[in-house]
Amino acid sequence: ISLVVAPDANAAAAIVADRFASLITANPQAVLGLATGGTPVQTYQQLVQKVQQGQLSFQSVQSFNLDEYVGLKGDHPQSYRSFMNENLFHQVDINLDRTHVPDGAAADLADQCQSYEAMIREAGGIDLQLLGIGLNGHIAFNEPGSAADSRTRLVDLTANTIQANARFFDTIDEVPKQAVTMGIGTIMESKGIVLLATGEGKSHAVERMIQGPVDVELPASILQQHPSLTVVTDPAAASQIQ
Ligand code: F6R
Repeated sequence: ISLVVAPDANAAAAIVADRFASLITANPQAVLGLATGGTPVQTYQQLVQKVQQGQLSFQSVQSFNLDEYVGLKGDHPQSYRSFMNENLFHQVDINLDRTHVPDGAAADLADQCQSYEAMIREAGGIDLQLLGIGLNGHIAFNEPGSAADSRTRLVDLTANTIQANARFFDTIDEVPKQAVTMGIGTIMESKGIVLLATGEGKSHAVERMIQGPVDVELPASILQQHPSLTVVTDPAAASQIQ
């Protein structure tokens, strides 16, 4: 693991944005793996700025998002498709047809999961996957106990995750209880992974991810076995690391 502790959250986002920008510059047809949530918002803002300043183009990239809530159509304001459109896709020159987010409203979710895996394979795999980390160490919506070789599938969210995500909804009852998520096995096949974690709240999960044993009860710890993992944090998220 390569650990980079940036001076603050904005600097951490800049490091991640630069990593994606260099990849896209070197390979305009790169396949990006993207995440939602609070953590990557600044990274996306910095990528948008680079595009607006004419330093970067998403014209030929493809993207695959990690996950989507079950039951929310893409145009639902809290869907991860809407999040991506607002925070990145509608602000850059990406071809929306080349952006992929699982369809949580698909009639046949098992089929949706299989075709998502097939699309990633057909794209040649993910070149660089952006990850956040849950308070319980989840990556994407692979909650504690998820198998290291799990693939894209339908999962139940834990009470802890539903609670953490309630901040994006009017009431906790509106938070979906299930999601479609890439599996840990899917994520581990990415050629490179960059995990961004900021804030004190993440410090215990970050410490266990980096210094703890590889344990399915802390799904992010499985990333220790990835050949190209960079963890980027602010000082608060790194504060429990000895
Ligand atoms: C998002 C995702 C989740 C988040 C994690 C942290 O696509 O897959 O695993 O990365 O829940 O969320 P935030 O960044 O909101 O703390």
